[in-house]
Amino acid sequence: MTDELLRIKNLTKKIGSVVPVNSLSFELMRGSCTALLGPNGAGKTTTLRMLAGLLSPTQGEIIYSQSGAGSISNWRNRIGYLPQYPKFYGWMSGIEYLNFSAKLSGLSKQRAAERSLEVLEMVGLQQAAKRRISGYSGGMKQRLGIAQALVHEPELILLDEPVSALDPIGRREVMDLMRALRGDVTILFSTHVLHDAEEICDDMVLMVEGRIAESGSLTELRMKHRQPILFIEVESGEREMNWLHSLGNRDFIEASEIGTQGARLVVSDMNRARDVLVREIAESGIGLLRFEAGTSSLEDMFMKVVNS
Ligand SMILES: Nc1ncnc2c1ncn2[C@@H]1O[C@H](COP(=O)(O)OP(=O)(O)OP(=O)(O)O)[C@@H](O)[C@H]1O
Ligand SMILES: [Mg+2]
Repeated sequence: MTDELLRIKNLTKKIGSVVPVNSLSFELMRGSCTALLGPNGAGKTTTLRMLAGLLSPTQGEIIYSQSGAGSISNWRNRIGYLPQYPKFYGWMSGIEYLNFSAKLSGLSKQRAAERSLEVLEMVGLQQAAKRRISGYSGGMKQRLGIAQALVHEPELILLDEPVSALDPIGRREVMDLMRALRGDVTILFSTHVLHDAEEICDDMVLMVEGRIAESGSLTELRMKHRQPILFIEVESGEREMNWLHSLGNRDFIEASEIGTQGARLVVSDMNRARDVLVREIAESGIGLLRFEAGTSSLEDMFMKVVNS
């Protein structure tokens, strides 16, 4: 897993006056699973299309490791790509579609037939092989799309929002498939949901407005963004309300969200915060319902970065 597969340096795409991707740099290790995370319009699709060789960068470099031929044209055979809105010929059966895709990728007739069966099994569609795609569920279509991305045995698959359009069952099917594939093939997939990334990935690249806002291993990022938090809930009353609104001014509170019956406080010194606030609550007879210490999550960081 220490072997680098792909390195992106200052990748930039300008389209007229729009800059969907602005000086992006990151690396992918062989066998890793990385989430390209970001809200709508962050530049995920534009990035993946450049990596797939479907869109030329305005600036920057995409450097694939030299284990085979180095240039992008040769690299196309080593990459599988699932577009955000895949189009299928509904009248074809699953197996016909895979055979067709395999031959388009340059596989011989015999190899295409063998490999189509293999990938159908891999994605759990062997029972539906001969059914028309128009009758497939959303989850089945997406799994067929992943089978298509895998048919020519690529080293890297680029999946553009593979689960975003699916219902919970379809989502589960595709997430389970991705979990089964990880390790054997390097995966870069885009999503706007942090939870998807946390469920199956080791690494993430968070994009906002064409730039990287955060990147690295999820474990490291969780550590980096851990902050002590106090959750307080009180009864409704004037005294309680006044006290809640006075909370923002303490030097041990770094950030506060105050509601009508509670507060969520990011604190710099948990022990002091606890001592001072518990004493105040006791002395002024505040009707306390909940007083809980916790830590902020990656979700907090994600919401902060995305909304700023
Ligand atoms: N061909 C184009 N012409 C003009 N603007 C474009 C073009 N392609 C992309 N953009 C703009 O670039 C930005 C990034 O688009 P992109 O599709 O890469 O984002 P995304 O992260 O995939 O979004 P989503 O989550 O909605 O799929 C958007 O603001 C989009 O409107
Ligand atoms: Mg997109």
